Amino acid sequence: MTDPVSPHFAHARAPGKINVFLKVGQLQGDGYHELATAFQAVSLYEDVRAYPADDFSVSFTGSIDTTGLSTDGSNLAIKAARLLARQSGYRGGVRLEVEKNVPIAGGMGGGSADAAATLVACDALWGTDASREELTALAAKLGADVPFALSGGTAIGTGRGDQLSPALAKGRFHWVLAVAEFGMSTPEVYSALDRHREEHAQDIYPALMTPAVDTDVLQALRAGDARQLAEALHNDLQAPALRLAPGLHEILELGEQSGALAGIVSGSGPTLAFLVPDADSALELQVALGASGLNALRVTGPVHGARLVQEW
Ligand code: C5P
Repeated sequence: MTDPVSPHFAHARAPGKINVFLKVGQLQGDGYHELATAFQAVSLYEDVRAYPADDFSVSFTGSIDTTGLSTDGSNLAIKAARLLARQSGYRGGVRLEVEKNVPIAGGMGGGSADAAATLVACDALWGTDASREELTALAAKLGADVPFALSGGTAIGTGRGDQLSPALAKGRFHWVLAVAEFGMSTPEVYSALDRHREEHAQDIYPALMTPAVDTDVLQALRAGDARQLAEALHNDLQAPALRLAPGLHEILELGEQSGALAGIVSGSGPTLAFLVPDADSALELQVALGASGLNALRVTGPVHGARLVQEW
């Protein structure tokens, strides 16, 4: 039975992210690596609508092809809903409709955004009234990037990337994304990094126990200075991602020759994020990449984390 005082449905929205800095430390016993990362939430969103139901289901709509996505219990949105139900003692289920705009397996945390928006939507639909701290604790159980999709803004992530502290960021940064037609598996990219480190152990420094975010990045964010940030962008997963998908080299070069201050692989890739000085340059770069047959999107950051969208 559905509680008559519940809203008819709840709608929440959560953003995708770019890691403007990502340093990968040592592999831990739990299969995760110690990280130091600076996240920025950007204006590409996942919208989750949650409807009362007796069991748990999910379906997809949106601007991208979702045919390959799982809709069973392995889907992260369903896992999020089940986890909240279990923790809160809610007995019913939910029918989730996910409107996807963040590239799938693209390194921008689309699945994590689904999970964060689902937690917020189900909390409202079911009236579970969980605090932000409680939702964040559940988010961390679902995946390393889920707490950030909940908090949004600009933040430093340590541990698995799930221990967040807010970073001061001034103004708005303009990005152009080059979205690939294929996805990449995050565990595979991390494994490629580990293999490379093992094979070249004699030539490279050992991975740090506790990596840290460079102060240049923090300063650039604080100053709201895109040129300074462009100099400080860094991603340890870029080299392994480029080894697995060498075609991305050419697109990085194209972006940098077409007006980007700098380009970087987003998270574990294959989405590329180009930082540009302003909105006009973003449009020019989008047109230039589009003319080469690439799917290019303009976004800005930082934006808010997962929250309800009022529809009535
Ligand atoms: O937590 P999430 O499901 O997003 O992580 C996906 C995979 O990425 C993990 O199973 C692990 O292989 C890798 N990962 C990692 N170290 C991290 C975060 C993710 O090795 N800090």
